[in-house]
Amino acid sequence: MPQHQMPQQRPDSYAPGSDPRAASSLSDQSPDRSLREIDLRSDTVTKPTPGMRQAIFEAEVGDDVIDFDPTVERLEQRTAEVLGKEAAIFMPSGSMSNQIAIRVHCDRSSEFLCEENCHIYHYEQGAFAQLSGLVARTVSGQGGVLRLEQLEPLIRPDNEHFVRTRLVTLENTHNRWGGRIQPQDEVVRICDWARTVGLRSHLDGARLWNAAAASGTNEQTLCAPFDSVSVCFSKGLGAPVGSALAGTAEFIAEARRARKLFGGGMRQAGIIAAGALYALEQHRDRFSEDHEHARLLGDACASCPPLAIRGNRIDTNIVICDVDPAWGTATEMVTQLKAQGVRCLAIDAQAVRFVTHLDVNREQIDTACEIIQAVAGAKVAKSV
Ligand SMILES: Cc1ncc(COP(=O)(O)O)c(C=O)c1O
Repeated sequence: MPQHQMPQQRPDSYAPGSDPRAASSLSDQSPDRSLREIDLRSDTVTKPTPGMRQAIFEAEVGDDVIDFDPTVERLEQRTAEVLGKEAAIFMPSGSMSNQIAIRVHCDRSSEFLCEENCHIYHYEQGAFAQLSGLVARTVSGQGGVLRLEQLEPLIRPDNEHFVRTRLVTLENTHNRWGGRIQPQDEVVRICDWARTVGLRSHLDGARLWNAAAASGTNEQTLCAPFDSVSVCFSKGLGAPVGSALAGTAEFIAEARRARKLFGGGMRQAGIIAAGALYALEQHRDRFSEDHEHARLLGDACASCPPLAIRGNRIDTNIVICDVDPAWGTATEMVTQLKAQGVRCLAIDAQAVRFVTHLDVNREQIDTACEIIQAVAGAKVAKSV
């Protein structure tokens, strides 16, 4: 079978040069593997709870492309209310939601400013360029946090040599900086400045819920400075599918056109919207548990000399550790942990990521901590 037609296995690695099949092929292939594994690769791996499955089963549906789907409509209204925006639209994914926001805010061939490690730039295949003819100008943040003074000089002069600067995007929490919460005073400064100089502002709030829970600042307040916000139901909230984009009614009407253009119109979408609505109503008050679990994992990692916590802090549910090359690579760490039943991701050649979520309990976290300490400690002990 030609290489490009071979079925891909689930990746354990986003690290450059890694083969996603390599770590998997070393694993225990027994059918009940998933029952014993502690899967900390992402908060997207959760399975719907019985209550969520019941809500999905009972969902009232319509045709959301021809006219409307009542469950989708309820989800959109409720999301807009929670985020404090005029309107919201249900999206199949966070990536589509971000890309549509950028497209609607920017004219073709203009530029937006973003942090260099943000998901929009790093993990979405440069879709803004491929699909919308836009350019990103990246800025290096301190731990994923941008300062207004870094952005001010970046607006291009009105001159035919230059693209036009149109938009600034931020990410809260910041995925590649270990779930870092953006400092709200700086967010307000950046968005106020953007408005005064004629730029739009967009928030990638895939994990906004975590930021709200951990900071004690509600979603409305966190979203208020921005023209638009994208949120995900399929991450910490535990829904199987879906995201939403929120903003003014006029902006959302344009986003609806773009969603159709991108092939994101969904018919009886109430089936999946019901899971998202259930998650929004039932799972927003349980994040402190995930954050406590991440702190425990962070303590375990910090006690291992080969592991250094990226950014030296754990704000929410993500722990990123840089692996000392003297120990080995991130892929080797992932492979060894997997052999002991703990799944995590290699996100760079020397960095691994652990994410807590509603499908891992305290007992599993305690077990994972012991395994991480044994694996990370063992090889150093051998090499000295
Ligand atoms: C910060 C952030 N934004 C956007 C996305 C994209 O979401 P999706 O996987 O639904 O496209 C992710 C996914 O992990 C993310 O972490």
